[in-house]
Amino acid sequence: MDHTTVAIVGGGPAGLLLSRLLHRAGTDCTVLERRDRAYVERRQRAGILEQSTVDALREAGAAERLDAEGLVHDGVELRWSGRSHRIDFPALTGGRRVWVYAQTEVVKDLIALHQAAGTAPRFEAEVHAVEGIDTGRPIVRYTHQGRERALSCDYVVGCDGSHGVALKAVPVGARRTYERVYPYSWLGITADVPPSCEELVYAHSPHGFALHSMRSPRVSRLYLQVPNGTDPEAWTDERIWDELDARFTLDGWTLDRGPITAKAVLPMRSSVTEPMRFGRLLLAGDAAHIVPPTGAKGLNLAVSDVVVLARALTHRQRTGGTELLDAYSGTCLRRVWRAEHFSYTMTTTLHTDPGQSAFDTRLQIAQLDRVADSPHAAAELALNYAGIPVFST
Ligand code: APR
Ligand code: PHB
Repeated sequence: MDHTTVAIVGGGPAGLLLSRLLHRAGTDCTVLERRDRAYVERRQRAGILEQSTVDALREAGAAERLDAEGLVHDGVELRWSGRSHRIDFPALTGGRRVWVYAQTEVVKDLIALHQAAGTAPRFEAEVHAVEGIDTGRPIVRYTHQGRERALSCDYVVGCDGSHGVALKAVPVGARRTYERVYPYSWLGITADVPPSCEELVYAHSPHGFALHSMRSPRVSRLYLQVPNGTDPEAWTDERIWDELDARFTLDGWTLDRGPITAKAVLPMRSSVTEPMRFGRLLLAGDAAHIVPPTGAKGLNLAVSDVVVLARALTHRQRTGGTELLDAYSGTCLRRVWRAEHFSYTMTTTLHTDPGQSAFDTRLQIAQLDRVADSPHAAAELALNYAGIPVFST
């Protein structure tokens, strides 16, 4: 049976960055990814990187293209009730900012670096069981090219996303999942048209939420709140643009239209599984927690988990000490719950719940007015959005 120090289940951003950090620190690891490379590189997700995520990618030597092509943003705009307010990140956070750079590009950059270093994931390797996490020598069982394989290791890391198998190795009684499902989804589109704004616009409107984001100076990315169960094909391009127009409406501003090249519906969910460590199994990224996309915290949380974990595993490897691994779950969960609260607050302040009363709507508007009128309220939003430094939770 093959052996590795750290077996990583899943080659999404969490698994790819963790293996990069471990290899650079001289800790041997193997990533098992069930999809092929092209599939992993094509998967479309959010596109906002916090300052600490960019710092981590630079540290990993994975930020060359990000630094050349990423769009640095110093703020976002909020719109509601005919008002507009800009949140100035550097002014409110002591210099922090965000980068617009799609997650799929981060994934491509990490895979290219692994290929060049000879540390690429084992693609099309589907893990079906993780055994012995309460022993000193766990075993990961997987299928590769139709053959059953097994990998023994010192530690297993579940970076296998929201429906992963790693978590199933933990007895139900030893874990707890806290969850909230929202009564709306996002219809996301990509369009070949320059963005109509320089920074992202988050809009609260009587028609529901809308977000204007971007992928490059020539490609716009937009989202609108739709009912759960919506079929994206039921929305013609014209209906999408008309609805976006109605939600972003602001005197003197127009939304430019262009050909829609992608269209998909995303459900919204908050979830945290505790603890994030069980014996020799550690969970990171979506395998441990999910946030709704409002505020774009998903990738950033995955990155902060693996930064903490790489440090803990390297410390264990170099000194034999397990104190950082023992602290892993607690350290991450502080930050995870902060991001959960922020994502929940952004979501529930900006969306229209189908059961919402006129009173509830007035409360949302009062909260948005507060952000515009109070630098303290604006600073709280800015600090959370631009991201709290990884070790200051
Ligand atoms: N065996 C091997 N690989 C698996 C298995 C399995 N049984 N199950 C899942 N995987 C792989 C998936 O194919 C995927 O490539 O695990 C990977 C998980 O990647 P992500 O879902 O991208 O999760 P993560 O790396 O934690 O990244 C978090 O992704 O979902 C977004 O909003 C989230 O932006 C955040 C980021
Ligand atoms: C995106 O660009 O995909 C994006 C940006 C901000 C969000 C969510 C998604 O809050």
